[in-house]
Amino acid sequence: MKVLVTGGMGYIGSHTCLALLDAGFQPVIFDNLSNASKAVLTQINKISGVTPAFVEGDIRNTALVRQTLEHYGCEAVIHFAALKAVGESTVEPLNYYDNNVSGTLSLLQAMDSAGVRRIVFSSSATVYGEPDYIPIDEHHPLRATNPYGWSKVMVEQVLADLCQADSRWQATALRYFNPVGAHESGELGENPLGTPNNLMPYVAQVAVGKRSLLSVFGNDYPTADGTGVRDYIHVMDLASGHVMALKARLEGYFACNLGTGQGYSVTQLIETFRQVSGKAIPCEFVERRPGDVPCSYANSELAQQVLGWQAHKDLTAMVTDVWHWQLNYPMGI
Ligand code: NAD
Ligand code: WQD
Repeated sequence: MKVLVTGGMGYIGSHTCLALLDAGFQPVIFDNLSNASKAVLTQINKISGVTPAFVEGDIRNTALVRQTLEHYGCEAVIHFAALKAVGESTVEPLNYYDNNVSGTLSLLQAMDSAGVRRIVFSSSATVYGEPDYIPIDEHHPLRATNPYGWSKVMVEQVLADLCQADSRWQATALRYFNPVGAHESGELGENPLGTPNNLMPYVAQVAVGKRSLLSVFGNDYPTADGTGVRDYIHVMDLASGHVMALKARLEGYFACNLGTGQGYSVTQLIETFRQVSGKAIPCEFVERRPGDVPCSYANSELAQQVLGWQAHKDLTAMVTDVWHWQLNYPMGI
C-alpha cells in the first residue's frame, strides 16, 4: 500500500518512512525541504536499500498534492509537515497558522478530491497546555500556550469535524510527548539546522564538542532534583505507532497519546548522556525558560488498548542511539 508522507524528509517523518518500509508499505515523500536536507534520501537508502519516491512541494499547493496522490495511487496520508519552533511561533503567528492550519486544510481538500480519506496526523502533548494533572490522559482539556500549540488544537478540531460530517473519513491524531533518539544504525537521526531548540540535540552537540556549554533552564521546579521532567520517547517507538495506526483500520476520529509514561529530569538525561558517551558535558543552571511546565508525562493506556502500541526503548537506548548518530555525523548531513 502506498502512503503519502508529508514532511517525510524531516526528523520523525524520515524514521517513520523506515518503519513503513520495514512493514511492507511504500512511502511517497512530499516535502518542501524548508527544514530538511535531500541527503535524508541517501541515508534511508543506506539503511533499507530503498529510495522512496520524493516530490518536492508545499502542502499549500493543493493541485500538486492532489496530482501526487493520484499519480502514485496513495491510499492514506501520514501528515508530519509543519513548522514546530514554539518560540518562533510567538513571533510569526501568521506564518505558523498559514503553514500548519491552512496547509492542512489544503492537504485535506486535495485528499478529498483525490478520494483519499485516511490520515494520521502529528499532534503533540502541547495540546494539553499547562497540565491540570499528571500523568496526562486524553480526557484532559485541550488548550495551548502559544500559536504552535494552538495550530495543533485547531487541526485536531478540523479533523474531528470532518469525520463527524462524512463517515468516509478516518483520522487519527497522535499526540507525541518528547521525541528523541535516532535509528539504531547510526545512519539517521535528528539533523537540526542552526541552534537546537530542544534538550537532547543540544546535549549531543555539547558532548561532541560542537557547542561548549549547556544551559539548564531552571533548577527550582517542584520536582525531585529541581529540573524539568519530561516523557522522552524513542523516535523508532513513535515511528511504529504510525504503522500501527495505519494497520488499525479504525473508523471516524481517534486521538491518543504516544509516550512512555515515564518522566525523566534534565539532570537525569544529562547524567545518562555522560555515562553513555564518557564525555564531561559542561552545564550551568540559568533562569527558567518562559512557557516551560515543571513536569509532563503521558498516560499511554489508550494507545495500548486501541492500537496495541507501547514504547519499548528506555532512556539509555535513546541516548546510545543519539550518541552513535552524533559521532558518525558530528556536522549533520
Ligand atoms: P521536522 O521539521 O524535522 O519535519 C517537518 C518536515 O516538514 C520538514 O522536513 C519540513 O521541510 C517539512 N515541511 C514543513 N512545512 C511544510 C510545507 N508547508 N509543505 C511541505 N513540507 C513542509 O519536524 P519533526 O520533529 O520531524 O516533526 C514532525 C511533526 O511532528 C510536526 O508536525 C511537528 O509539529 C510534530 N511534533 C514534533 C515534536 C518534536 O519534538 N519533534 C513533538 C510533537 C509533535
Ligand atoms: C525539555 C526540558 C527544558 C533545552 C518542546 C515543545 C513541545 C514539543 C516537544 C512539538 C525542559 C529543558 C531544554 C536546553 C534545558 N514539540 N532544556 N536546556 O519544551 O518539553 O517540548 O518539544 O510539539 O511542544 O515545547 O522540550 O527538549 O525543549 O525541553 O534545560 O537547552 O529540557 O527547560 O525542561 P519541551 P525541550
